[in-house]
Amino acid sequence: MPNALITAVGGYVSDKILSNSDLEKIMDTNDEWITTRTGIKERRVLPEDQAVSDIGLNVVQQLLAKSNSRAEEVDLLICATCTGDYIIPDTANNICYKSGLVNAFGFDLNAACSGFVFALYTAAQFIETGRYKKVIVIGGEKMTSYMNYEDRTTSILFGDGGGGVMLEAGEEYGVIDAILKGDGIGCQMLKVEAGGSLKPMNQERLDNREGFVTQDGRQIYKRAVNGMSSTVVEVLERNNLTAQDIRWLVPHQANERIINSVANSIDFPMEKVMLNIAKYGNTSAGTIPLCLWEYEDQLNKGDNVILTSFGGGFTWGSLYLKWAY
Ligand code: UT7
Repeated sequence: MPNALITAVGGYVSDKILSNSDLEKIMDTNDEWITTRTGIKERRVLPEDQAVSDIGLNVVQQLLAKSNSRAEEVDLLICATCTGDYIIPDTANNICYKSGLVNAFGFDLNAACSGFVFALYTAAQFIETGRYKKVIVIGGEKMTSYMNYEDRTTSILFGDGGGGVMLEAGEEYGVIDAILKGDGIGCQMLKVEAGGSLKPMNQERLDNREGFVTQDGRQIYKRAVNGMSSTVVEVLERNNLTAQDIRWLVPHQANERIINSVANSIDFPMEKVMLNIAKYGNTSAGTIPLCLWEYEDQLNKGDNVILTSFGGGFTWGSLYLKWAY
């Protein structure tokens, strides 16, 4: 059975910055509160005429160049997103079209902030069948499209951006194991109320601002710490590993305090934890590939890496891989 190796990583954010001081000007908040409660200093905002497929296009171009692949060789592209360009069609097919991946099929995977981890494990299964040789996984979001900037409890957290990886069939290293979980109790605790098939958008719902993300921050906070910590421990135990054997923990970037609590509860020193939330905020399915992209120079062949995430749904889980280059 071939292994699914990550052979390249890419990332993309726009240049436009939305800082804490910018937010201070439009709502009742301040840099000190946001920094101490979340660790976030600024986020990136995609231009109005760009969407998730533009993140995908940029990332695919990087991945093809870095992995010495031709566009025609890619078999499949999975796009993890909950803020795709349209409800129909899916964004993955649009990315394939824009990037000239003429032989690839594609589909979107919506597991909110856990989307990249779920999509990476899904993609690995395709490679392991032996029938698919090159699969691209993108995780990207335009969260600012769903922010109500009159709601200071949620809108300060999120930003736009994303990244992705090229997965290729190989002998050594690669994606090894994952523990993925879900609990529909989360349906009521983090959602966009209207705009789906249950409550199609109409003027009344628009006026009531039901097209934006709302959440129960405190509940999510507790569950995120528990969910990420417990699945990291489970995946370590199942693979006879301890925290000492792991070079990098790559947590979903939702709140620096959540990340600190997870690291603390499973004895991971913060020097081994990837962290870039200060610059980008929470980009949902985009955070983990954005971390891998930024820390690429510090990743070495054979490094044991654990990805861990928690998001709307609820969805959560941890994935163990060995870095392949
Ligand atoms: O990927 C999953 C997505 N979601 C999450 O991960 C969210 C997880 N939760 C969190 O990150 C935190 O719960 C928040 C950052 C959302 C909130 O932090 P908190 O420490 O749980 O604050 P809180 O909700 O308990 O609010 C404390 C106070 C309240 O005032 P009072 O009632 O104590 O007077 C809030 O009204 O802070 C107030 N507050 C703010 N103040 C200034 C809430 N938002 C703000 C704000 N600026 N932006």
